[in-house]
Amino acid sequence: MTIAPVQCTGSTAWTDARLLLALEEVVETELNRHLKAAREWMPHEYVPWGQGRDFDGVLGGEAWELSQSKVTPLGRVSLVVNLLTEDNLPSYHHEIATLFGRDGAWGTWVHRWTAEEGRHGIAIRDYLLATRAVDPVALERARMDHMGAGFQSDNAHSMLHSIAYVAFQELATRISHRNTGHLSGDPLCEQLLAKIANDENLHMVFYRNLLKAALELAPDLAMQAVRDVVTEFRMPGHGMPGFERSAAQIALGGIYNLRIHHDDVLQPVLRHLKVLELGGLGPVGVQAQQELGLFMDELDGQAARFEERQAALLARRAAKAAQA
Ligand SMILES: [Fe+2]
Ligand SMILES: [Fe+2]
Repeated sequence: MTIAPVQCTGSTAWTDARLLLALEEVVETELNRHLKAAREWMPHEYVPWGQGRDFDGVLGGEAWELSQSKVTPLGRVSLVVNLLTEDNLPSYHHEIATLFGRDGAWGTWVHRWTAEEGRHGIAIRDYLLATRAVDPVALERARMDHMGAGFQSDNAHSMLHSIAYVAFQELATRISHRNTGHLSGDPLCEQLLAKIANDENLHMVFYRNLLKAALELAPDLAMQAVRDVVTEFRMPGHGMPGFERSAAQIALGGIYNLRIHHDDVLQPVLRHLKVLELGGLGPVGVQAQQELGLFMDELDGQAARFEERQAALLARRAAKAAQA
């Protein structure tokens, strides 16, 4: 779809309200495409309930012990981060409903997206508890801490920044779920996370197509938003208890790190939208585009240095393990 710049003759004339209105038709088209592409699925079918049994406490069942968990240590860390991230859905809903509104096509999308995301938290928690994959008490306390702190978007000040952010973030979430499944050590966990990753991919496509329309409609502003979001990107779960430590383990283990962020998240979206080759920009748009290109080169270098450190650390650990 090609959108002719309408009404606003200069980038300074755009406001969030005008952008909301101008993008409504694209949202409706993308919503209809999404509803056709999304296949209904049942979270309960992915949970091995037969592995479940009562816990200690009220029902007097068996207390959780680490030896009961079939998933890898890395899988445990990442599953908890991913679930706590999904758990903060009420805050995410608040942020996007405030920005996008609850009316018309925007509102229908906001509610539909929220319902789909809700399924992810339900399914992962059911899986973790039925299989005793993680400590249920620690998980509940972490959920209370994380949700109790709430979540405030870094991009609440701007429609375009928010659209750009979610285009990258949905893909980041997809990759994180997918790689967690691969490295979980349990084929049933992998099957569930692949299903969830598929939803995240459809969310990414929705927002990426919306960002494409925004780049056509308000190219200079959208380019600046993409630059800002890419250069300041952080995962939505950054505020959870112990995030830094978990993120370091997740990076070292190859679930999500700088190389993956550059190669599998930022580059595919930027390339698909031809962001770095886009013409027809004014001076501020050109400057943002150049800064974005420089940042991507620098990030590639940082990712290479990370990989060197990762290889050295893993080699040292393997040597220690061999000695032991
Ligand atoms: Fe999700
Ligand atoms: Fe999503």
